[in-house]
Amino acid sequence: MKLSAKSFSRFVFTLCLAALVGLPALRAQTGQAGSAPPVDPVTGVPSLLLGTAWYPEQWPESRWDADLELMQKAGVRMVRVGEFAWSRMEPQDGQYDLDWLSRAIAAAGRHGIYTVIGTPSAAPPAWLTQKYPETLRTKEDGRKDEHGNRQQFNWANPKYRELARSMAEQLAQRFGHNPYVLGWQIDNEYSANSYDDATKKQFQDWVRKRYGTLDNLNERWTTAYWSETYSNWNQIPIETKYGNPGLLLSWKRFVSDTWRSYQKNQLDVIRANADPRQFITTNMMGWFDGYDHYTVSQDLDMASWDDYVGEGQLDPYRNGAAHDLTRGFLRRNFWVMETQPGSVNWAKINNSLNKGEVRAMAWHDVGHGADAVSYWQWRSDLNGQEEYHGTMVGADGTPVPLYAEVAELGAEFAKAGPVLAGTSVKSDVAILHSYDSRWAINWQRHNSEYDPVTELVSYYKPLRNIAQSIDIVNPSAPLNQYKLVVAPGLNVISDAEAKNLIDYVNQGGNLVLGQRSGMKNIDNGLQTERQPGPLVDLLGGRVEQYYALTSPVPVSGAWGAGTSQLWAELLSTKDADTKVLMRYGKSNGWLDGQPAAITRKVGKGSITYIGAWLDEASMEKAARWMTEASDVKPKFGAVPAGVDVYPREGAHGKVYILVNFSKSAQNVTLPSAMEDVLKGGSTKSVSLPVYGVAVLSTTR
Ligand code: GLA
Ligand code: GLA
Repeated sequence: MKLSAKSFSRFVFTLCLAALVGLPALRAQTGQAGSAPPVDPVTGVPSLLLGTAWYPEQWPESRWDADLELMQKAGVRMVRVGEFAWSRMEPQDGQYDLDWLSRAIAAAGRHGIYTVIGTPSAAPPAWLTQKYPETLRTKEDGRKDEHGNRQQFNWANPKYRELARSMAEQLAQRFGHNPYVLGWQIDNEYSANSYDDATKKQFQDWVRKRYGTLDNLNERWTTAYWSETYSNWNQIPIETKYGNPGLLLSWKRFVSDTWRSYQKNQLDVIRANADPRQFITTNMMGWFDGYDHYTVSQDLDMASWDDYVGEGQLDPYRNGAAHDLTRGFLRRNFWVMETQPGSVNWAKINNSLNKGEVRAMAWHDVGHGADAVSYWQWRSDLNGQEEYHGTMVGADGTPVPLYAEVAELGAEFAKAGPVLAGTSVKSDVAILHSYDSRWAINWQRHNSEYDPVTELVSYYKPLRNIAQSIDIVNPSAPLNQYKLVVAPGLNVISDAEAKNLIDYVNQGGNLVLGQRSGMKNIDNGLQTERQPGPLVDLLGGRVEQYYALTSPVPVSGAWGAGTSQLWAELLSTKDADTKVLMRYGKSNGWLDGQPAAITRKVGKGSITYIGAWLDEASMEKAARWMTEASDVKPKFGAVPAGVDVYPREGAHGKVYILVNFSKSAQNVTLPSAMEDVLKGGSTKSVSLPVYGVAVLSTTR
């Protein structure tokens, strides 16, 4: 609804503008000879954007054109500006100065570059926190944060919200109709919470609203345990690691709701003042679990994230899953708002990505559904905490070696953009992910090595290799479009989520549950049925006991012989039609010969429970079994190991992006002749050097 209303208003606006100014907008769209066309304010937004974070406030205006010229030459079509520039935007309380920003946006526009404005609330000015000390956050150790770094604000503080809202309002009033401004990023990488008394009071009020009565709360948190019983709401503490599981989960939910309202405070004022064509997003952080991203995303137009490798090289699976996770927040295409030009400055070893890897990574991003890839940052700051970070231009103002690789990408994005326009990722397989479950497992891992993200990726990797496309969504998402739904660690399960899964199976879906599924209720308490709790009846079987392992135990059966690592669940079957797929071999006595994986057909659908943490080879066989049983086929067809294929589909055809992440050159035979978008012409095969990329399109 929202999107179509948006495109309609954009269309009307184009027509009016064309009538007024004699179609220059439409003419610009077709492009003109010579250097890159100037930005067409309405219709010329490239469907695939190369971008960079630019900090014009750090440089003399006389330098801007030289930087923008270099960006233009590299094919940069978007800059994100402003997200840390509050002290330049409001040098004194209530005295706003946005003229420089207006000139920066116009200058970028003259170079064919659109702007995304970041609201600057992640870095309040010194005068602000000095004048309003209550806006500074209190750290978990009880000390107040101070000026000199960033994220020193208290996200729950009403005064801070008022000041941040006024700042955002000024920006939106000034730039909400600016044709060069594509959209808005609110704040930057939400993460730091405050533990002051006023915030604690807000938390207590939140708990009261959720639980209604102390009796209800005491019962649901089982506070009779350790004499935790509360007789007044004001006794409820903040705990982040070792508290009652119900209290821990409540704090995280409060944190999530508070980030959502923090964001909405600025979002509402932007929306009230900006053209609907301008999107609103915030830059999230992949696997970061500081808040529930499904909660915080729901008010946004688009999800975006900051994609950093840090130390080492790109792991296309763990990173690819983070893309799919982000795409799942709103279940549509997203942006990579920041990514590393070569290296970062914050890892243990800040090695550079290899030559060609930055370009390969950008195409991997696009393949997973990114419509923009933006580098952090453009040029080295002359001073400041991040002097060592990778950039495209050095402190001297001239390109670093990586610049040429990014420029190659810029030219490729310009070529492939029109082909990718309107395409998105469609998957037959979904993996379920929930923050409640991840938090719950992380607070009580029971085996310190038990990382729920690693567990998820252990399923993701072989499933992606087979299906060549995976969605990652939350357990309450609509599931009927999927042939196969896998929930690797759905530890906390609400009644509504259980119903969603039961309905899915009853309507012919194939559901696979992994370890620790269905153990906890919405208060992070134990279900009164054994795992998988509300799904026991559907499964016709259950978990009798779980065992943390000091060493792998053998498993064998339908998926060959292998091992279970870290954790093993002893399963049982109750119904005659629930079949045992795998059994444990000799180990601690309890597990010997007992079921490790069971499955039951339910009409046209099925439900399967895997109690073992399978080694890679067994997991591959399990994935093959799952996809065969649910008739999942590769979206593209066979590719050599180490070559990733990313399908995107639109109304007019399909686009396949191929990237060679293996250690040697590879030849790929295409399932049919396709258009080679980057090289031109029709082809039946492509040869890919290491980190080589092909973009192929077909109308079929
Ligand atoms: C100690 C405590 C008990 C219980 C056990 C758990 O012995 O006294 O209350 O916490 O540890 O092992
Ligand atoms: C984050 C921040 C940026 C910058 C980069 C450095 O993504 O959003 O401001 O600090 O990290 O890697």
